[in-house]
Amino acid sequence: MSIELGSEHSPSRGSVFSRWRSYRQIHRTLLVFLILITLFVLERYRLALTGTFTLPHRQHELEDGVPRSAQQQRSMAQAGNSTLGFHAIYYVNMKTRYDREDAMALQAYISGLDVQDFPAVEAEMIDPVGMPPTHRPAMLKVGEKGCWRAHANIWSEMVRKKLPPVLIMESDATWDINVRPIMSGVNENFIKFLKSINSTAVHDPSWGSPHNQHPLAEGPIPSPTPSPPPIDYDADDPWLSAHWDLFSLGQCFEHGQDKDIKLVYPDPRVPDGRDYWGVRLDHQRVIRKSGGITCTTAYAISHTGAAKLLLRGAVDLDNPVDLLMRRLTLSRDLVAYSVMPPVMAQWEYLHDIGMNERGAQSDINGGKHADTPFDAEMKGWDYANRTGSVWITKAHHRDVAFEKMALSVAWEQILGDAVLTNSWWDPNTGD
Ligand SMILES: *[C@@H]1O[C@H](CO)[C@@H](O)[C@H](O)[C@H]1NC(C)=O
Ligand SMILES: *[C@@H]1O[C@H](CO)[C@@H](O)[C@H](O)[C@H]1NC(C)=O
Ligand SMILES: *[C@@H]1O[C@H](CO)[C@@H](O)[C@H](O)[C@H]1NC(C)=O
Repeated sequence: MSIELGSEHSPSRGSVFSRWRSYRQIHRTLLVFLILITLFVLERYRLALTGTFTLPHRQHELEDGVPRSAQQQRSMAQAGNSTLGFHAIYYVNMKTRYDREDAMALQAYISGLDVQDFPAVEAEMIDPVGMPPTHRPAMLKVGEKGCWRAHANIWSEMVRKKLPPVLIMESDATWDINVRPIMSGVNENFIKFLKSINSTAVHDPSWGSPHNQHPLAEGPIPSPTPSPPPIDYDADDPWLSAHWDLFSLGQCFEHGQDKDIKLVYPDPRVPDGRDYWGVRLDHQRVIRKSGGITCTTAYAISHTGAAKLLLRGAVDLDNPVDLLMRRLTLSRDLVAYSVMPPVMAQWEYLHDIGMNERGAQSDINGGKHADTPFDAEMKGWDYANRTGSVWITKAHHRDVAFEKMALSVAWEQILGDAVLTNSWWDPNTGD
């Protein structure tokens, strides 16, 4: 090119130099442009790349040899992240239950969850003047009112801030140590399930909602019959939260209504031989339309669900919190789904280690407790010494199916094959 130009008039040293300078400028611009493109591409695929290189469970997901789109892989990776694909994981804990706080910390530590304490509402905070009306006066215990209020405080925050879905747990929740890969599997099948039932977004009355725009909100007037967006994996909202109000991961009972609107899928981490309404599950899990749950051990809630429950309780607080959910599901006013066997359950203390005597197995009755008497039955310590665990799942969670309950394996994970009684006081040596 410079020869062509040069044929017109011999270039002086200066003009060659200035041309060279302008080439250099073009090169520089190109370089900056390339760097920007690279940054853009990297940012665009950041999630996929972290999924590939850092999340340990992704490897496992690939081992099963099932081909999956990058979009699906990203969604599953997010659903198995430290907040299980939700905005946050909250657990509701009473001030005095340091023991539950510690159990939470230990389980989260070894299974890679990120959980946040949300203060319970203590009995002394309950004054009838601040409680909603009820058509069934004197039915609820103070403990039940406090429990409802703690959950309502979270719903209220969600509604005020229009938060993305959160997972809410009771402080005595427990789960399998492999909860993250388990939830990746739930995610893969939950989206398939939503597709199979031709799910559409739930009514969303919030200001400016993209799914159901408020007539007074800014922006284009929505068409009267908008075609629903296709259901697909979405790493930014892996649980497609516009499609449900409540998603239970830890119910202890569930009503049979809608039990056949379901998807059964293989999950090698479910112990064999569980029962689903008379059908034997062979290392399988079920995702279903909820019939109405009992126990708020662990449930995810969207802002539409939070608004519905907050409103229902504000109008008529006639039920404890879980039955409020149950009855609003039974009446089909709450769009709710659940997983069976549940991914989470409640723990309680091993019997005969002195904890029943303190009333440590339940909080609902409230009040101060007496300490274990010195002559209490102590035969449970034999099991505790053998296993390094003082925790078992609550008997009424009969559908629980853990391969490795995180609390049961905490000792082995943290202290290896240490034996509890080796660090007991030895009466022979006095040490
Ligand atoms: C987990 O994934 C969800 C959904 O993409 C996201 O909102 C949340 O922030 C992620 N959690 C963490 C700890 O990155
Ligand atoms: C979902 O839609 C498809 C296509 O319109 C239809 O064939 C199928 O029966 C629907 N499924 C349900 C559960 O409604
Ligand atoms: C505790 O368990 C260990 C290993 O199972 C056993 O050797 C030991 O005798 C047990 N100690 C007591 C006091 O039961």
